[in-house]
Amino acid sequence: MSLVLDQQAQDLLFRSARTANAFTDEPVTDEQVRAIYDLVKYAPTSLNMQPLRVVLVRSDQARTQLVERMADGNKGKTSTAPLTAILAADTDFHDDLHRTFPHAPGARDWFGDDAARTETARFNAALQVGYFILGVRAAGLAAGPMTGFDAEGINKDFFADGAHRVLAVVNIGKPGENAWFDRNPRLDYDEVVTTA
Ligand SMILES: Cc1cc2nc3c(=O)[nH]c(=O)nc-3n(C[C@H](O)[C@H](O)[C@H](O)COP(=O)(O)O)c2cc1C
Repeated sequence: MSLVLDQQAQDLLFRSARTANAFTDEPVTDEQVRAIYDLVKYAPTSLNMQPLRVVLVRSDQARTQLVERMADGNKGKTSTAPLTAILAADTDFHDDLHRTFPHAPGARDWFGDDAARTETARFNAALQVGYFILGVRAAGLAAGPMTGFDAEGINKDFFADGAHRVLAVVNIGKPGENAWFDRNPRLDYDEVVTTA
C-alpha cells in the first residue's frame, strides 16, 4: 500500500491551518527556520531553478524600516511578530543553474532576455513562497503572508543589487490571542475542476 498523509497531518497543513494575524512572544529560532528550509528546498520548480531568497528581519533597525514600507493594516502585526521574513525572487537565479541543473550545461544561456527571466524568477519563486508557507505550518508554526506593502521601497531598502523582487512578507510564530479573521468560503470542486 502506498503511503498517504494521515488526516491529522492534512489538518495541520490545510484544513485546520489558518493565516495568523497575531502571535505570542515565543521566539522563532534560526534552527527552526533552517529546518523549514531543509524541507521546502525539495519542492519542485521549473528546471530545478531556485530563485527564492529569504531575509530574516531580526534587528530593530531592519524591522522599523520594513514596517514603514508595510500597508497600514499590516504594520501592527509586522511590528509585533516574533519573526518576519521577506521572501523575494532573485532574477539572477540562472547563475546557479550549472550547479542545480548540471546535466544541461547551456541552461544559463536560455535566460538572456531580462523581462522573460524576471517573469520566470517571479513565477518559480512564488511557487516556493507557497511551499515555504506550508513548511512553516509543517513545523507547527503559523504563517501570516502579506503582499500589502511598497514593493519598490522594500526592494531598495533590502536588496541593494537591484536584482531581487520582493514577493511576500511573512510573519511567523505561534498564534496569539484573536489571531484569526473569519474563515472565508472556498470555491467548490465543480467550480474549479473540469475534465477535457
Ligand atoms: C500572497 C498572500 C498575500 C496576502 N496579503 C495579505 C495582506 O497584505 N494583509 C493581510 O492582512 N492578509 C494578507 N493575506 C492573507 C489572506 O487574506 C489569507 O491567507 C486568506 O484570506 C486565507 O485565510 P485563512 O488561512 O485564515 O483561511 C495574504 C495571503 C497571501 C497568501
